[in-house]
Amino acid sequence: REHTLAWKLKKSKRCNNLFIAPGNAGTATLGKNINIAGKDFEAIKKLVLDEKITLVVVGPEEPLVRGIVDFFAKDVDLKNVLIFGPSKNGAQLEGSKAFSKKFMMRHHIPTAAYREITTLAEGVSFLKTLTPPFVLKADGLAAGKGVLILNDLSDAISELEMMLKGKFGDASKTVVIEEFLTGIEFSVFAITDGKSYKILPEAKDYKRIGEGDTGLNTGGMGAVSPVPFFDAQLRRKVENKIIKPTIRGLQNENIDYKGVVFFGLISVEGEPYVIEYNCRFGDPETEVIIPRLKNDLVTLFEQTLTGKLSEAVIRKEKHFAVGMVLTAGGYPEDYKKGDEILLPHAPPQSEIFHAGTITNDEGKIVTNGGRVMVVVNFGQTIEETRQLILNDVKKINYKGKYFRKDIGKDLT
Ligand code: AMP
Ligand code: GLY
Repeated sequence: REHTLAWKLKKSKRCNNLFIAPGNAGTATLGKNINIAGKDFEAIKKLVLDEKITLVVVGPEEPLVRGIVDFFAKDVDLKNVLIFGPSKNGAQLEGSKAFSKKFMMRHHIPTAAYREITTLAEGVSFLKTLTPPFVLKADGLAAGKGVLILNDLSDAISELEMMLKGKFGDASKTVVIEEFLTGIEFSVFAITDGKSYKILPEAKDYKRIGEGDTGLNTGGMGAVSPVPFFDAQLRRKVENKIIKPTIRGLQNENIDYKGVVFFGLISVEGEPYVIEYNCRFGDPETEVIIPRLKNDLVTLFEQTLTGKLSEAVIRKEKHFAVGMVLTAGGYPEDYKKGDEILLPHAPPQSEIFHAGTITNDEGKIVTNGGRVMVVVNFGQTIEETRQLILNDVKKINYKGKYFRKDIGKDLT
């Protein structure tokens, strides 16, 4: 995600200098990597002031949920620096499942029926009213691992007990138990300046590790944009029943939100429901939606942050973008880092967006995370695009390389 955002920002004539924190071997080719963690606000402040940075784009959720936007707003030296992302209050849409469910209830936004649980006894009695599978969600951030789906009531009860006892630390002291929805998932992104909003290209993410959507959940194994079943009718429903009431709700509740709202949606027999909100761009959705955007990203973000989004016209490429994630062997369970990556000698046709990579002390690019990189290509059909990617994936080699060949196959 961050490599893609940096790649697109760098294409703007208005981007003179680009710093990426902490960055990876991919972003190092576009700007200067600075080894600062997103939660180290003081170090970010120093970098912004030293380098006279005028626009900060926050990639992941953690700094937003910890209040980086409020930190900028309250600081005399930083308050005029543009920072793309919601306030701490707005980031609660992602930072607290209980908050987001209550928000949806207040604004009549379609989502699964639920109960917010803090004791085992109330949880057990609610679970007994539901039919399996049972959906348990840690209230707070849990590095993407906080949602459990269980087929068996006794498993659900014992997992609930462990969650309430701190399986995910404080994040699971409160648990949201939900009705299970059956349908097809997709991701819609809207940017907002707090008043108006614009819908960006949509995407479908492939969350399971195995071909045919089997096996463990991951952060995402690939993505496709546009989504063929997101037709005019579904789009209209999403806009009217979900996007508009969300943006209006934020406004009516005086929640400062200038950034992107990521709607994780499910279509149940053609009716859209919210599975989750995120307060940042999706990964790997970004890798397919941002390259399809024709707008200058610096200008679009500036319009968002200065209340001028109504002036923007979103322009997008008509072609399909498909992204295939290459992971480290073993991911999403334990995996190794530090394996050397051999990239194609000749520039490949595909864009290669790095995720978990780093250049080591010997100047070699090595693996540094579970999702290592995303290979993205574009074409008139999903199938043709998938083949172009497979051709380039063959030319990237490292120990334990794994990927799903079937990204987008279900859509053709
Ligand atoms: P979340 O982190 O809330 O997006 O949940 C992770 C994944 O769990 C989602 O992408 C869905 O595949 C699944 N999931 C979450 N909530 C539900 C639900 N109420 N019904 C069915 N599947 C769900
Ligand atoms: N791809 C899902 C996410 O970014 O949360």
